[in-house]
Amino acid sequence: MELYAGIEQAAEVFKTTRKLVTFSGAGMSAESGIPTFRDPGGIWDQFDPAEVGTGPGLLNTLSRMPEKIRAFINETIRVFLQAQPNPGHLALGTLEQIGILRSVVTQNVDNLHQEAGNKNVIEMHGNLFRQRCLACEAKKPFGREEYLGRVKNALEEMTTFDLPSIMEMLPKCDCGSPMRPDVVMFGEAVQGLYESFQEADSCDVMLVLGTSGVVYPAAALPQKAKESGATVIEINPGDSAYYGVADIRLQGTTGEILPRIVQRIQNA
Ligand code: OAD
Repeated sequence: MELYAGIEQAAEVFKTTRKLVTFSGAGMSAESGIPTFRDPGGIWDQFDPAEVGTGPGLLNTLSRMPEKIRAFINETIRVFLQAQPNPGHLALGTLEQIGILRSVVTQNVDNLHQEAGNKNVIEMHGNLFRQRCLACEAKKPFGREEYLGRVKNALEEMTTFDLPSIMEMLPKCDCGSPMRPDVVMFGEAVQGLYESFQEADSCDVMLVLGTSGVVYPAAALPQKAKESGATVIEINPGDSAYYGVADIRLQGTTGEILPRIVQRIQNA
């Protein structure tokens, strides 16, 4: 479909929706300077998920090749410290504010949906800035700069980079135990699974943004929404697993297309 016509069509669908839910992935934050995972030059091109993407893999790499973990942490700090909501995030904030968007289900851990003003956000893969106690599982939110600045300083001061020094640098829970970032690694349970599927089941429009749709169970949400009768609209400049699922597919970036849809609605 021609892009302009697709934007018009999406704006019309949004104007009459009863419940619009979005499902977002890494492409949503690409225009905030955070690389996606699977695009060329993406995170899984730079780092091996088997080495840094699972708990046991991370510990194993730390003991055998600590410099790889150090590089991974340094790159994470560099990228996430500068990240700010892009025009796509801000458009979703506006859509919630004007009463059209009901919830955001995201695989992203970057907190940018909340920073763009969205209040109803389900983070299936957690949040990098929230910490979780390794012993009692209590959770504590930190600010982006507060947390990353602290990790950056601690790394600079470290004379040896190994498991004991990393454990030492982790924030402490009120119970005295160390806390780790509350993100979901491969092999760990996703968060908000029931709520996310409820959102997919009960929406009449699902907007799928910047995800390849290959990591389950999150990837099943658009299909679930479709089976429950929802119209599925996808925005993605590249490929995804949703060619047969999306009713409307807008080929372009979320930072470019979402503001145009919002503008159409507001100027109507
Ligand atoms: P992927 O890297 O798999 O997919 C990114 C998608 O974003 C691709 O379909 C791109 O075409 C699209 N894209 C790139 N730039 C875009 C832009 N500016 N606007 C819109 N779309 C754009 O990322 P995810 O699907 O989010 O999980 O990956 C899912 C999960 O795999 C992640 O949450 C993470 C990863 O391993 C865990 O770490 C548990």
